[in-house]
Amino acid sequence: MSGDLEERLDAVYHSGGDRGKLDTIYDDWARDYDQNLWASGNPYIALMIGMVGRHVPDPRARILDGGCGTGNLAQIMSLLGHSNIVGIDPSDGMLEIARSKNCYAELHNMLLGSTINLPEESFDAVTAAGVLTHGHAPPESLDGMLTLAKPGAPIIFSISQIAIDESGFGEKIASLERSRAWVLKEKTEPFRTYPFSEQYASLRHWICVYTKT
Ligand SMILES: C[S@@+](CC[C@H](N)C(=O)[O-])C[C@H]1O[C@@H](n2cnc3c(N)ncnc32)[C@H](O)[C@@H]1O
Repeated sequence: MSGDLEERLDAVYHSGGDRGKLDTIYDDWARDYDQNLWASGNPYIALMIGMVGRHVPDPRARILDGGCGTGNLAQIMSLLGHSNIVGIDPSDGMLEIARSKNCYAELHNMLLGSTINLPEESFDAVTAAGVLTHGHAPPESLDGMLTLAKPGAPIIFSISQIAIDESGFGEKIASLERSRAWVLKEKTEPFRTYPFSEQYASLRHWICVYTKT
């Protein structure tokens, strides 16, 4: 795997929860991000798209893409006919690349895990690819995603073992299940995140689909 990507990942994972630092890292990375991502062999976008195809078949569905980055997920959803996607991300550099792809109805500099100025219960589906993790969007982001989703809307996200075990996502996901705020629809088998990296050989992710009750 390209050393560039491993260096970028090291920087991201060691930003220590410093918001400004993380945003600057993504601003600087934005122009090379897509090339690094697709060369990495990480299958998460393909799996997320498969889940969107299963759970959000209506191309008119209003979809919130949380932590949209450069828009890799929306670019493919758009090619498959989705035309009402709203992207939010805190990095202006990433948003600029996303804007250039013309696949979003709206793009906003907003953060999962803090107040999001969008109407409650206004989205038919919510996606979050590669964003619910240490130093990025905190476990409380799931509350915000649920608030914005209509009842019955699918919430589709990637999540890593580390985020579950060490960043509080395991407990948060379980507590939302216990309170019946959402119901698990399906979950992939764990997959190796970076198949060509030795340094990140042990990293595993899942794609989860929950429905807001
Ligand atoms: C690994 S990238 C994934 C981008 C895109 N979803 C994709 O899959 O190509 C993580 C993105 O999450 C954004 N991010 C970090 N913290 C966030 C937060 N609290 N809320 C929303 N987005 C956040 C970063 O700016 C970055 O664009």
